[in-house]
Amino acid sequence: MTDSVTAQVPVIRLDPMGADHHGEAARMRALGPVVRVILPGEVPVWAVTDHALLGELVTNPSVSKDWRNWSLVQDGTITDDWPLVGMIKVTNMVTSDDAVHVRLRRPVTRTFTRGRVEQLRPRLNEIVDALLDNLPALATDGVVDLRQHYAYPVPMQMICELTGVPVEWRPRLRELVDSIFRTNTTAEEVVATQRDRHELLNRLVDLRRAEPGEDLTSALITMGEADAEALTQEELIDTIWLLLTAGHETTLGLIVNGVRALLTHPDQLTMALNGDAETWSRVVEETLRWDSPIGNFPARYPLEDLTIAGVDIPRGDAILAPYSGVGRDPSYHGPTADQFDITRPPAKHLAFGGGPHICLGAHLARLEAQVALPALFARYPDLSLAVDPAELVPVPSFFSNSAAGLPVRLA
Ligand code: HEM
Repeated sequence: MTDSVTAQVPVIRLDPMGADHHGEAARMRALGPVVRVILPGEVPVWAVTDHALLGELVTNPSVSKDWRNWSLVQDGTITDDWPLVGMIKVTNMVTSDDAVHVRLRRPVTRTFTRGRVEQLRPRLNEIVDALLDNLPALATDGVVDLRQHYAYPVPMQMICELTGVPVEWRPRLRELVDSIFRTNTTAEEVVATQRDRHELLNRLVDLRRAEPGEDLTSALITMGEADAEALTQEELIDTIWLLLTAGHETTLGLIVNGVRALLTHPDQLTMALNGDAETWSRVVEETLRWDSPIGNFPARYPLEDLTIAGVDIPRGDAILAPYSGVGRDPSYHGPTADQFDITRPPAKHLAFGGGPHICLGAHLARLEAQVALPALFARYPDLSLAVDPAELVPVPSFFSNSAAGLPVRLA
């Protein structure tokens, strides 16, 4: 779909294979602070590539997060088999505004406060220790995929325990989450994923209604029986889905990216190994800035015509947030923005977004990474990459920014 706008402003097509996130982000930045982006299916949207302007956008009250305000949804261009529909058409806090947003976010907030998350530390230590014990047995010729056997199960086990997902359902759940974040899916796969995720989540709600536990799903169901502000079945299912997707794919990416950064920057690794908990916290924050696991996040829709850096964005258009890209914006992070440096004075990054939709799980994500990374290097201090860093295959996605596998040698 070409339109009159694309003839007037710089245009870029995002690579659905995510082959070069940071190169692509640098090219977008070079085109300007606001660029026209063409998504699969020739769907035109916008992206704000400048850190400061993106920070303003995410706090702008006249910009909606509700996909029902996207003109291409309203005119039927976005169909239910569009490859990216699973990231757009959901009904939960991340796609709602104002009072509805508050109603959908509030019942979940308490579980993820700093204090409540800190109480999860002992269980997290147990999970991490058991996984580390098991790694040697999973190695083939001395090589083990750390993404598969460590970075993935840490957040997956935590979020599934918090939401009451039975152990035997998790492999299918993982495939479904994987499919949602990939941007190289076919129309058939999109339709099957949407069908199967509904089926799995409805089954989960039925199970927890029949056999309530100490988990968040059971709590939301109980609240539903008592409270007029309660979530509808669709909101309930999509909220649990949001927690399962946001709570695992992102932190998995953070752990992978953190290990990759340290193994490819031996001087930084040495500082981390000789440091304390504060040093590891810097490792995590610098990884979030330098290599945020969220690449280009959809989407925001102006409720009135908007002008950003002299570019007119009509009401009802969609705008992406390139969170990993702005982490290396030199106009905000300075001329060394593209260097991984844990001694950098702490600067505010946008890896967790900002404004009313700022990441609800940031305390949990930080705790998981701050525990998983030092525990890994304490147990296996001679850890090394088993392949050349250039051979690491990226996740095929412009939403996720990480490696699809992380083969390492433990000793
Ligand atoms: C490194 C890990 C993580 C990163 C980088 C991350 C990043 C983000 C970002 C950028 C947003 C805002 C998106 C936007 O609307 O523009 C967000 C929202 C959200 N995140 Fe995270 N996240 C992470 C981990 C988690 C975890 C562990 C959870 C666990 C529950 C979680 C739950 C959520 C939820 C529920 C929202 C929606 C908040 C709202 O719309 O009000 N995230 N996250």
